[in-house]
Amino acid sequence: MKNKIFAANWKMFKTPDETRKYFSSFRELVAKTSADRQVLFFPPALCLEAALESTRGTSLQIGVQNCHAKGEGAFTGEISAQAAQKMGAQWVLLGHSERRTLFHETDAMVSEKLQFVQNLGMKVMLCIGETLDERQSQRTESILSGQLEKALAKARAQDLAIAYEPVWAIGTGVNASPEQAEQTHQFIVRWLEGRGFTGTPVLYGGSVKPENAKALIDQPHVSGFLVGGASLDPQSFSKIGGV
Ligand code: PGA
Repeated sequence: MKNKIFAANWKMFKTPDETRKYFSSFRELVAKTSADRQVLFFPPALCLEAALESTRGTSLQIGVQNCHAKGEGAFTGEISAQAAQKMGAQWVLLGHSERRTLFHETDAMVSEKLQFVQNLGMKVMLCIGETLDERQSQRTESILSGQLEKALAKARAQDLAIAYEPVWAIGTGVNASPEQAEQTHQFIVRWLEGRGFTGTPVLYGGSVKPENAKALIDQPHVSGFLVGGASLDPQSFSKIGGV
């Protein structure tokens, strides 16, 4: 049986108080995480401490949604992965399409951050995905392989997960069909295996909800989910993680 990963991306939602409330109900709903799955959360950086405190002593893992490629320095407004690690965070999410589009992150920047985070000994979840226009013009595979090639140029296979998030499915309510997801995941898994990244989990993200989770997770090459909107409610995220 595949070891599944269920990850919550809270984006810029929730305060520290709301974070504590969330975990007190989530922990009640999910009394024990079964051994075949990992459950992790990417809260906003200002809620990191609240999330870490609320999950101490549990198997729930916490990460940050972005970081700078250096541990410290004169970088006003940036997030230090090194500080996050000292606080107890284990993961860093990198290359999310919102970072790429709204904050102009390039593949080169993602690659630099990824190397830095891996050298710290933290785990990386790397997001990749094509736009609707790229899919419709049959460029999905070349876009994804280009993103992987550049981001993973100097990466280690250890402590790495990929989140395939078609841009057209993020926050739109339109998820990739199970067939589309499986076909694209197969391509990604083969690409990874060809470069020595065997066994790297490939998660699907983009409008995952309790209603479509089962059909998606049943696909052989889908190793888990990165969930945005539907992870903000403990009830709906616990249903997704319980599939
Ligand atoms: P969504 O977001 O589940 O709200 O589509 C996914 C993501 O951006 O990671």
